[in-house]
Amino acid sequence: MKKYLRLNDCFNFHDFQELARRRVPGPIFNYIAGGADDEVTLRRNTAAFEQCDLVPSVLRGVANVDTSVTVMGQRLAMPFYCSPTALQRLFHHQGERAVAAAAAKFGTMFGVSSLGTVSLEELRKKYETPQVYQFYFHKDRGLNHAMLQRAKQAGVDVMMLTVDSITGGNRERDLRTGFSIPFRMTLGGMLQFAIKPMWALNYVTHERFKLPQLDQHVDMGGDVMSIGRYFTEMLDPSMNWDDVAEMVRTWNGQFCLKGVMSVADAKRAVEIGCTGIILSNHGGRQLDGSRSAFDQLAEIVDAVGDRIDVMMDGGIQRGSHVLKALSLGAKAVGVGRLYLFALAAAGQAGVERALGLMKAEIERDMRLMGCATIKDLTSSNLRFR
Ligand SMILES: Cc1cc2nc3c(=O)[nH]c(=O)nc-3n(C[C@H](O)[C@H](O)[C@H](O)COP(=O)(O)O)c2cc1C
Repeated sequence: MKKYLRLNDCFNFHDFQELARRRVPGPIFNYIAGGADDEVTLRRNTAAFEQCDLVPSVLRGVANVDTSVTVMGQRLAMPFYCSPTALQRLFHHQGERAVAAAAAKFGTMFGVSSLGTVSLEELRKKYETPQVYQFYFHKDRGLNHAMLQRAKQAGVDVMMLTVDSITGGNRERDLRTGFSIPFRMTLGGMLQFAIKPMWALNYVTHERFKLPQLDQHVDMGGDVMSIGRYFTEMLDPSMNWDDVAEMVRTWNGQFCLKGVMSVADAKRAVEIGCTGIILSNHGGRQLDGSRSAFDQLAEIVDAVGDRIDVMMDGGIQRGSHVLKALSLGAKAVGVGRLYLFALAAAGQAGVERALGLMKAEIERDMRLMGCATIKDLTSSNLRFR
């Protein structure tokens, strides 16, 4: 491993991960990188793509390739989007603004988390590219209703309800490091500040950490709160299909469920009027031992692919992973850590580099596959070992 690593030395996921590891305090790096329990699902998410191989076609005249897709009514220049993730201001002081700006530059969609650190309204106004709002269903029904209204008024394009997180996953890395929000000034925390001085300087000299989606409703200002406690104390584990059907009616627009994994649930999502589902295990951060989205993709596309937009996320590090998922019928895929490590490593410039490398990989691999458009990718391009 190189002694000095800069953004220009980053050519793939692992390079960004390494640069992030060097630049942000350990508890923050581990919060991004970690998964639940033994991290079996986290590892499987990427390994699953290696169970099958691409079968290229040759001599197809692929001077021009078109990587655009239309998903949930949104036209995206690329078949991947930035999946919503929490607390981006902690990873880099530019936070969500960096991710939104990079997504806009590449003509793709980005998600704003309920636990986002920049307001959904500000992001909607500033960046002209499709925006998803990621919804967590809280015990406080007033809060849920107010959030839907806010997102509607702001002009959010797609509502995305996360259904795999009604209670917090067991993230032992965070338990060990004592990771909490706001970042806690324990002795260990101060030591981290001291050994990552650039991050620390930026953290204290930029805008204060806040959670503008929640702060009118929840007092997290004075106190520290672990992410596990937020999930367990504030989210509503009694949420059921009737609650969601009502949300879909109220929203009256593009509405998808993130974290559907079974055929039966996918069919139910169609029945209640959802326009999309995202197969996801939350990047291996919730139920460890659960199946990877890629492993589950074909059977769900077979069952409902003609009635609802099926997407997936989890473990995507390469353009070839994206092509494999699209070949099985995903309409688009989400990426999480791919842009988060780049954000932590170098802010907006980092995210732009990560998205640019991914775009170049997809275009190159489509040419090598003999595919001029995304529609040309089908299951006949793929063989399982
Ligand atoms: C640090 C981090 C924070 C996340 N925060 C959220 C969140 O607030 N809401 C949500 O629905 N998913 C969240 N996710 C899950 C991502 O949206 C996505 O499903 C996952 O990262 C995909 O896996 P990948 O990281 O392997 O690409 C988070 C993931 C990470 C790594």
